[in-house]
Amino acid sequence: MAAQLAEPVTIRPYRPLDHRACRELWAELIRTKRELYQDPTIGGPDPGAGFEEYLTRLDLAGIWVAEHRDDGVVGLVGLVLSGLRAGVVEPLVVAQDWRDRGIGRALLQHAATEARRRELTQVSISPDSRNVEAIRCLHAAGYDVLSSITLTMDLAPRGHSWQEGLEVHDVRFSY
Ligand SMILES: CC(C)(COP(=O)(O)OP(=O)(O)OC[C@H]1O[C@@H](n2cnc3c(N)ncnc32)[C@H](O)[C@@H]1OP(=O)(O)O)[C@@H](O)C(=O)NCCC(=O)NCCS
Repeated sequence: MAAQLAEPVTIRPYRPLDHRACRELWAELIRTKRELYQDPTIGGPDPGAGFEEYLTRLDLAGIWVAEHRDDGVVGLVGLVLSGLRAGVVEPLVVAQDWRDRGIGRALLQHAATEARRRELTQVSISPDSRNVEAIRCLHAAGYDVLSSITLTMDLAPRGHSWQEGLEVHDVRFSY
């Protein structure tokens, strides 16, 4: 079933012909991480390669794209199963020039509808803690439960360029 966003962008299931565009969107996701953490090694030498690996996952429940009538595929969302009743949204990416127009939110709504159709009782997503843009988009789209957090001990010799000052339960973290 295709969902309709504000004209002329439509959300529809991924097709093999979308491969090249989705690989490029995957690379955009990696580039976002590289910029956020100032680390050009994230994702390895071919930042789109992770998409190929992703397509082989056995727990993959569905992939949908946002397609612009004239410009083709401009967004990508996937739903991965986690146990019997839960889902994980991964990846979520909208092409740079198409951000801030509600496409991310529409992709998230579509993934949630598909998750309900599969009788999942919750869906989660794990943005990088520094990805404020994504966290705002996710919160606005209904991801307002902080169900778990991942804590990291940095073992690198010179450490990472972490930023200071994120508090959870009155405990202060770098992020
Ligand atoms: C995160 C991402 C998918 C959001 O897509 P988008 O199409 O720009 O998001 P939307 O236009 O649907 O925005 C939804 C909400 O997010 C908020 N938002 C989006 N961009 C924002 C920004 N730059 N600053 C502040 N708030 C922002 C707004 O509150 C908006 O709600 P509104 O419609 O009430 O104003 C997009 O920025 C992206 O692809 N980023 C790179 C990849 C990435 O980080 N993916 C997330 C991995 S978890």
